[in-house]
Amino acid sequence: TIKMIKKIACIGAGYVGGPTMSVIAQKNPHIQVTVVDMNEARIEAWNDDDLSKLPIYEPGLDAVVGEARGRNLFFSTDVDRAIDEADMIFISVNTPTKAYGKGKGQAADLKFIELCARQIAAVAKSDKIVVEKSTLPVRTAQALKSILDNTGNGVNFCILSNPEFLAEGTAINDLHHPDRVLIGGEDAAAIQALVDVYASWVPKERILTTNLWSSELSKLVANAFLAQRVSSINSISELCEVTGANVDEVAKAVGQDSRIGPKFLKASVGFGGSCFQKDILNLVYIARSYNLHTVADYWEQVIILNDHQKTRFAERIIRTMYNTVNGKHIAFLGWAFKKDTNDSRESAAIYVADHLLEEEAHIVVYDPKVPAEQIYRDLDALGTRSPADNRRLVSVASDPLSALNDAHAVAILTEWDEFKSYDWREIKQRMKRPAFVFDGRKLLGRAELEALGYQYYAIGE
Ligand code: UDX
Ligand code: UDX
Ligand code: ADP
Repeated sequence: TIKMIKKIACIGAGYVGGPTMSVIAQKNPHIQVTVVDMNEARIEAWNDDDLSKLPIYEPGLDAVVGEARGRNLFFSTDVDRAIDEADMIFISVNTPTKAYGKGKGQAADLKFIELCARQIAAVAKSDKIVVEKSTLPVRTAQALKSILDNTGNGVNFCILSNPEFLAEGTAINDLHHPDRVLIGGEDAAAIQALVDVYASWVPKERILTTNLWSSELSKLVANAFLAQRVSSINSISELCEVTGANVDEVAKAVGQDSRIGPKFLKASVGFGGSCFQKDILNLVYIARSYNLHTVADYWEQVIILNDHQKTRFAERIIRTMYNTVNGKHIAFLGWAFKKDTNDSRESAAIYVADHLLEEEAHIVVYDPKVPAEQIYRDLDALGTRSPADNRRLVSVASDPLSALNDAHAVAILTEWDEFKSYDWREIKQRMKRPAFVFDGRKLLGRAELEALGYQYYAIGE
């Protein structure tokens, strides 16, 4: 029943749906791609004539949107119409960790997915291929299928799993040159229809097809392995600090073993982002639900170590500053969970700040892309203290120098390139003495900073 795809709809215009659909449209001018979202402000921003106002910051995205938008790429709040017209519907809504009830703090909250499924079922009057794009717990496709078949209008739904592997900050390059595209499903014609969409630009040997469950699980496992590498090197960073080894040297020596490989071995203040923690929690939850406690405990350690790394960094700051940061001005360079994105979900900066604020530090944040409202939202969401206290203790600077003026210490939380190019000699003149730098990203060099007279601490040295 499934033929060449002429119209695609994508529900969810976020960090995944927006860039992915923009590239699919760019590379398939013959397919009309409509991205819908119930968030009107977000859709308005996607439609802004000024491409610097797109709702997510991603290098190269503006050019892709500029090329395809209005030609065969559209952003809209009319979800029903997009569903009705499409042959293929991507679901790319958020699946946060559950904040209530059974599985609270671990399981994925599937309420947004279920709402989408019910809406598709209610609206669809012709056969549809429904593609899971969001990362989901294994066997969600089954639930999706059951909702669609039991509440629909008697049309046929084919479910595919097509997890997205792009990383934020490099999304466009990752989409243009993916290591692999993974498509899971049962129906050969539906799989072929989606293979054809990607084959417009992805070499055939990079398009892998599997059964539904393997595809769903592979995405969780890929993220779990990546996060595990970061936690592994971070665990070694603590050992380096007490033994006199240097974690970058160790990472290089270890990574040069071709069986291990050099990537994802950069010690840091801890990983963040919307995926790693959520996906591991998901894996842990699934394992526990099948009574595989040894497996669950194994993966849970990756998160425990990551939390430890963030706490350890905050405690190092306090200890070094004579065991008190009360009333001290600490400049935070960076709030995003990594460079080249305005996303701060699960960013290490949030947790380090929270720890220091418990000690009544005064934090002044500068991030090139994360807006002040978002920084306050992140802190308020923790519920550690009142919103008024967060605003009393934290301010947000619109330029780096005003964050650094009169600071007792600088903490580097995100590896933005621009931080390297600052005039650290001049900054020192503006800071209190002794001038402390706590480098959570190993971004600046010890020799240079110590020569300028800083007290320099970096992870894993
Ligand atoms: C290892 C290191 O590879 C080597 O660099 C070091 O100098 C000594 O320790 P070795 O113990 O000889 O070498 O064998 P290796 O090939 O690493 O295998 C170790 C064990 O892991 C074996 O029992 C092997 O069967 C098992 N293994 C290895 C797996 O079960 N799965 C794998 O994917 C790889
Ligand atoms: C990740 C996966 O890489 C991607 O394939 C998946 O689709 C979504 O999740 P993302 O979260 O965007 O992507 O960023 P990533 O580059 O993986 O970084 C995640 C976190 O790990 C960041 O906080 C980053 O700073 C940290 N990290 C990464 C390290 O601390 N050290 C490293 O060596 C690599
Ligand atoms: P991701 O990183 O997975 O892309 P985001 O939170 O950035 O996550 O984006 C998900 C988007 O999905 C949000 O903009 C949200 O408004 C949208 N969304 C969630 N549920 C629905 C729904 N039922 N209909 C339309 N849009 C939805």
